[in-house]
Amino acid sequence: MNEWITAMQARKWMKKNESFLPIWHAYVGVELDLFNQFERATDIDTVSEKTGYPRDLLASWVRVGVAVKHLKKRPNERFRSSKQRCSTLMGDNVSPGIKAILKEMLELHIPTMLKYPDIMRSHERAQFDHERHGEVVAETSALLEHFAIKKIIKMLRDQRAKTVVDLGCGHGGYLRKLSEEFPDLKLVGVDINQKVVDHARSLSEGYPNISFEVGDINTWEPEEQVDVVLLHNIFHYIHPDERDNLLDHLRSYVTHKGLISVITPISEKEYGHAFSSAFNSFFIAHDNLFALPDKQELQKISDHCHFEMFDLDPIIKEGSWYTFWLSPNSPIKEMRQSTMAGGTEQQIKREQAELTRTS
Ligand SMILES: C[S@@+](CC[C@H](N)C(=O)[O-])C[C@H]1O[C@@H](n2cnc3c(N)ncnc32)[C@H](O)[C@@H]1O
Repeated sequence: MNEWITAMQARKWMKKNESFLPIWHAYVGVELDLFNQFERATDIDTVSEKTGYPRDLLASWVRVGVAVKHLKKRPNERFRSSKQRCSTLMGDNVSPGIKAILKEMLELHIPTMLKYPDIMRSHERAQFDHERHGEVVAETSALLEHFAIKKIIKMLRDQRAKTVVDLGCGHGGYLRKLSEEFPDLKLVGVDINQKVVDHARSLSEGYPNISFEVGDINTWEPEEQVDVVLLHNIFHYIHPDERDNLLDHLRSYVTHKGLISVITPISEKEYGHAFSSAFNSFFIAHDNLFALPDKQELQKISDHCHFEMFDLDPIIKEGSWYTFWLSPNSPIKEMRQSTMAGGTEQQIKREQAELTRTS
């Protein structure tokens, strides 16, 4: 191929993908607290001496910062963080959400994505390291709590629930929010990662109605029946062939009128296709993480395990994150099935009356 074309194609490609630089720059700056070091106009030598970071590396980071407009050049070779662009990356209020997302993206997702060619050639997938990455993953998924909690609180109030179990509870944020709203609820969090449970316990001191257990949700059982189970951001930890078994297991201890609250990213094109497909690529590059479910799969496993699935709503559209409920008490479905099997109007009404009488 013509050399000129090759070079121009590469130039165009580089230009188009320059957008990666601000992410890298922000990650390094937040991890090393550099935006704060340059909160006031300061020269590189001063910051290098104060922090002990090598001068050449620091100077290079500063140059990138100026190029991506995170830093401003000031007179006398001094530099200052841009308050307009980096207010969430500096000061006492470095946004914990942004910090966690940068960490997860750069330390977990990108390295795995870089291994894709090796993984595809060798057929040897990566192992998700719960010990190393469990904490940051629990932190980023907790960012959804804010968007999901209202719907759960409303349902719990309507249900008059007495016990709630959060399976794969991470740092237990849902339980603390529920405890504040319902101080008499019995709240239990279960997670397989001891470190994550330790952190959840320390964050939940002062919440007497919350307890935590280390356990595998595929086998863990409560002492008594449970009104509401939270199953949030957990499907991709369970092999698609095992998801039925998990729901069957939950069925054995959720009360007849109980509910399961599910939150999960879904593999689909309607919303957040870029995000959910990238997420999916990351999961399936691991031996111990699995493909996101799609709507059909969710419907199929719900039907198979005799749960009624309802209120399927997107909560973070750009991430294709959905919430829905599963109810083991599925009169609507039983009625639908009897219609499909040739049930008459009167027969359905009779069944409806019977259900109302017995419930
Ligand atoms: C993505 S985090 C979600 C945390 C929380 N549910 C939320 O939505 O914010 C998934 C959590 O599930 C836990 N986990 C994964 N597999 C599990 C299993 N088989 N049994 C119990 N916990 C599990 C992980 O340790 C992690 O803390």
